[in-house]
Amino acid sequence: MSGGEVFEVPAALAASAFIDNDKYLELYKRSIDDPDAFWASMAGRLDWIKPFTRVKNTSYDPHHVSIRWYEDGILNAAYNCVDRHADRTPDKVAILWEGDDPAEQRAITYRELQEEVCRFANVLKTAGVRRGDRVTIYLPMIPEAAFAMLAAARIGAVHSVVFAGFSPDSLAGRIRDAGSALVITADEGVRGGRKVPLKANVDAALEKCPGVSKVLVVRRTGRPVAMQEGRDVYYDDAAEGVAADCPVSPMGAEDPLFILYTSGSTGSPKGVLHTTGGYLVYASLTHQWVFDCHDDDIYWCTADVGWVTGHSYVLYGPLANGATTLMFEGVPSHPDPSRFWEVIDRHKVTIFYTAPTAIRSLMAHGEEAVKRTSRASLRILGTVGEPINPEAWLWYYHVVGNNRCPIVDTWWQTETGGILITPLPGATRLKPGSATRPFFGVEPAIVDALGNVLDGPAEGNLVLLTSWPGQMRTVYGDHDRFVQTYFSTYKGMYFTGDGARRDEDGYYWITGRVDDVINVAGHRMGTAEVESALVAHPKVAEAAVVGYPHDIKGQGIYAYVTLMEGETPTDTLATELTQWVRKEIGPIASPDKIQFAVGLPKTRSGKIMRRILRKIAEDDFGSLGDTSTLADPSVVTDLIDHRQNRH
Ligand code: WT7
Repeated sequence: MSGGEVFEVPAALAASAFIDNDKYLELYKRSIDDPDAFWASMAGRLDWIKPFTRVKNTSYDPHHVSIRWYEDGILNAAYNCVDRHADRTPDKVAILWEGDDPAEQRAITYRELQEEVCRFANVLKTAGVRRGDRVTIYLPMIPEAAFAMLAAARIGAVHSVVFAGFSPDSLAGRIRDAGSALVITADEGVRGGRKVPLKANVDAALEKCPGVSKVLVVRRTGRPVAMQEGRDVYYDDAAEGVAADCPVSPMGAEDPLFILYTSGSTGSPKGVLHTTGGYLVYASLTHQWVFDCHDDDIYWCTADVGWVTGHSYVLYGPLANGATTLMFEGVPSHPDPSRFWEVIDRHKVTIFYTAPTAIRSLMAHGEEAVKRTSRASLRILGTVGEPINPEAWLWYYHVVGNNRCPIVDTWWQTETGGILITPLPGATRLKPGSATRPFFGVEPAIVDALGNVLDGPAEGNLVLLTSWPGQMRTVYGDHDRFVQTYFSTYKGMYFTGDGARRDEDGYYWITGRVDDVINVAGHRMGTAEVESALVAHPKVAEAAVVGYPHDIKGQGIYAYVTLMEGETPTDTLATELTQWVRKEIGPIASPDKIQFAVGLPKTRSGKIMRRILRKIAEDDFGSLGDTSTLADPSVVTDLIDHRQNRH
């Protein structure tokens, strides 16, 4: 993309932003030359109960991978996100909530947030939750989700938020893996005018979770739901008369703060574990500098709290900074495709952070839906979750931002806790489609297949050479899997699973996953998970799932299915299989295309050649490469003849 248009930093912003380009260059160098000094000084943004004496203690050696930051420091995340602001700016709005129905609004000040979090914490304590216990949260985007997460943090419990779009089975797996005895949910969720039966999903999940003894049910719609005597309690009943103050638990910097499950290239989702001190320093610093968020900004990140973006950039980052964070229950298209822009006008949003898939879907509705709103309050735009194609970037910049607002294209992962590669609005010239340069303390590199670090302009696999405070610490309950997944491919480096290119200006261009993970509408999906859901269907013999380019979602899910002896491929069966996967995993895993096949392309040793399947799914079968190692090369002709994605 070199030779493409470059967007300069607006002069006024360079002058007023936290970081301009000179400061970026100087601080970046310092952060790499002396990480201890840099990160010690950055940690001063938090209030510590007991200061740390040791900053960084990390090893990427595959024999003893260990990541520890600020390890002897003591602090509390909820105190840093709530109490210290309730003391200094009690009447400032902490959470601005906009319901699915535009008529529903709430503004919660820091003082009110403190009361709500304390009350919730006391309810958790009464329910028997102790320091170190895991609490599973299956809630929609309502303020109670924030109260519940911060309440857990306040008493030293570890939250595991499960996206409310996941199926009962997916929820059950995550509850069991985390070993939660308590689940927090709502009667129903509301999205795009439709109700989601959350409590009923929990009931179904709990049939497979004998360890759960308590369910707290937040009333969202008020619709009566089945309540199991002795196990289920309405939150508002439990909270009645409960004190609105609760002491904070002093936590070690390396005590777990949360677990968040994410898909990998193999096996069931991994419980990504983040700890307290380093995570919060990193979320807070990146939130302030990447979005140039000042005291009077109104900041809106559209992510759901069920994903890491919701953790770091709806909740922990902004609240640690005492900012006003907007929480949106709905979807971009309801009641109509102007919704995002109307919310921006209503609340005078100054910083707006969303996903490329949302931008592309709104782009498809045309400019008029945007142009009938003002968006005059906007200063900074951001994107996250997948590569943004230059066309969508330019539309976001010209149409949404009226050519005024820098776009920060932020690359990071659930595992990284916070943003690692990104422009800074007052410092970085922008190239549409590039995540540009590393954040402070971050040392990306591009390696070839053998792990050789490539210099200068290069393309290959993206690794990180050193640790940063927001890095995940382990896979919950399976440290070997952590080492295996991230530190065994390239010795002494963290492997991201992404491919990337670095151009002549040192800018990074993320090219997408190089493993068997696909990115569907900004949601991460393991192809193996969809395959195992498909083969669980009685009529399916074998399945192979790949991603293919999709105009709106970035990638779509393409499933090749072979049926059991005697079964007939029909459209009805294809629909049934799609429904089946929705039910097994959740709507985000629905295959977009199902192709019935007589056989899958396998090597003589039985390994499925996914490269061939990807090419056919892309409708690019002219360059299949070498197929001579296939056990039965004739299956390829059949696959091509029946391909489902034709241009
Ligand atoms: C994967 C991580 C980080 C929060 C949301 C997703 C892709 C993420 C970008 C970006 C290109 C991106 C990568 C990454 N990704 N941001 N700005 N440009 N690709 O978190 O579910 O853990 O997924 O999302 O492939 O590895 P996640």
